[in-house]
Amino acid sequence: MNLKGRSFLTLKDFTPEEIMYMVDLAAELKAKKKQGITGNSLKGKNIALIFEKPSTRTRCSFTIGCIDEGGHPEYLGREDIQLGYKESVEDTARVLGRMFDGIEFRGFSQETVEKLAKYSGVPVWNGLTDEYHPTQILADFLTLKEQFGRLGGLKLVFVGDGRNNMANSLMIGSAKMGLDFVILAPKSLWPEEELVALCRGYAKESGGSVAVTDDLSAVEGADAVYTDVWCSMGEEDKAAERIALLSPYQVNEELLKRTGKESTIFLHCLPAVKGKEVTEEIFEKYADIVFDEAENRMHTIKAVMVATLGN
Ligand code: CP
Ligand code: NVA
Repeated sequence: MNLKGRSFLTLKDFTPEEIMYMVDLAAELKAKKKQGITGNSLKGKNIALIFEKPSTRTRCSFTIGCIDEGGHPEYLGREDIQLGYKESVEDTARVLGRMFDGIEFRGFSQETVEKLAKYSGVPVWNGLTDEYHPTQILADFLTLKEQFGRLGGLKLVFVGDGRNNMANSLMIGSAKMGLDFVILAPKSLWPEEELVALCRGYAKESGGSVAVTDDLSAVEGADAVYTDVWCSMGEEDKAAERIALLSPYQVNEELLKRTGKESTIFLHCLPAVKGKEVTEEIFEKYADIVFDEAENRMHTIKAVMVATLGN
């Protein structure tokens, strides 16, 4: 598998084989790191980390993943550069592309990360936009594989804001990898029809399925129930409206009982607002898995950098 020179902007751009390759590479790098073995794959590579929005996991994963492989990361926060307001995205991209070997971007617009890729000429990795969060999905898939030994045929139910970056990216990834994927959300928070149709096309190829519903009974048979914050970064002013809409969709004991399975696991991309999208009790019950998932951000992000830029 050769992904050298590729950008990682959305999972739409990757085949199921390529996605599985990155997940498996992450598992390999994780096993090595546990034995104290790190690599040299990014030796001599300089990597820019652009963050318009805050981050714990993604920033630390890119930083540690890069250093573990012998590269140099450089953090460029919102106040540090003038991306898109005093300098055009195109110009910043062309400057960074002359100096850096790879660029991570977290921010608002998907268009920005796409422009960075187009104009920098180096691999660009999407560390989250309003629309997508593709590196998170690789960590979620590695965690599911660790728990169940497979991805295909698993039933994954995402409960909450069904039109956010997590819902969109989980839907794309799950459809490609043959999961039975459900978005469980009130109608006003359903994903765009066009994206659902595209994902149904992927599912047809993979043997998976995609459903969107507001009926809580859809959690029945779930192998994993996933949730995310009700207000994504930049939507803080929507808190009251979202609480009213989403309170019936809280992941709590009662909802998990409706899966009818003892083996169902709970996943969360974090950060979590306990007492809102998930109860403290359920969060703590599944904390070991949720923090495996958080740790897996680092191994999977390292795998993306190694696969697309490593020697
Ligand atoms: N899950 C995730 O992306 O976390 P951060 O916002 O802390 O990077
Ligand atoms: N939907 C969340 C994900 C955080 C990792 C947000 O965009 O804030």
